[in-house]
Amino acid sequence: MDGNGRWAQQRHRPRLIGHRAGARAVKRSVEFCLERGIGALTLFAFSSENWNRPAEEVGGLMKLFLGALEREVEELHRLGARLRFIGERSRFDGAILARMQAAETLSAGNTRLQLNIAASYGGRQDIAAAARALAEEVAAGRLRPDQIDEDALGARVALADLPAPDLFIRTGGEVRISNFLLWQLAYTELWFTDALWPDVDATLLQSALDDYARRERRFGLTSAQLGQPAPGETM
Ligand code: FPP
Repeated sequence: MDGNGRWAQQRHRPRLIGHRAGARAVKRSVEFCLERGIGALTLFAFSSENWNRPAEEVGGLMKLFLGALEREVEELHRLGARLRFIGERSRFDGAILARMQAAETLSAGNTRLQLNIAASYGGRQDIAAAARALAEEVAAGRLRPDQIDEDALGARVALADLPAPDLFIRTGGEVRISNFLLWQLAYTELWFTDALWPDVDATLLQSALDDYARRERRFGLTSAQLGQPAPGETM
């Protein structure tokens, strides 16, 4: 969700105004997923590195998160969203932590949309934590080193119980992954746009989906193996 700061700057407003507009774009995106029957949405709300931003901006973002948790969770629950927070949640203060836990508990039975919020999240940290979990199991004698393979590690990263993401969307003109879901994105289709996050709406999200629908996902195989014509080919 990149470009909140620049969106505000273009209007000669403080960066936090951009984050507030970003929160409205979050709402539009969740509504879009609910309308289109998209089963899971993961939003990168705050990275492990974002703690190093100026204290005023971090403080403002924390207030915004808390406010969003206080105001939006009931409605999200009513709409059938199941919330989950991934990342180092121990770094958040008690009020935010309690709200995160309450939101997960309240919405645990919902199945319409799995809504994951990555907060204080880093992809490398996620993989390192999975490696640490494996090491602890080996040290405790519950696992042998030769049992460690892709499935074993993949089962211990965040969102292991969900299918890998189909589509990754990054706004704000940057063409990089920036430490988001590094393990999980191995075969994900990547889509980049210059649009700033606060400007994201259903039209833009639909164009990402249309583009995605035109792609051929081969997962290392050939088009022929997939039994589909290659792009531009006819059967
Ligand atoms: C990146 O834009 C955005 C963030 C670091 C914060 C994202 C937070 C929200 C969209 C607010 C609400 C979210 C939830 C889930 C309630 P940037 O500040 O890096 O923008 P810039 O690249 O233009 O400076």
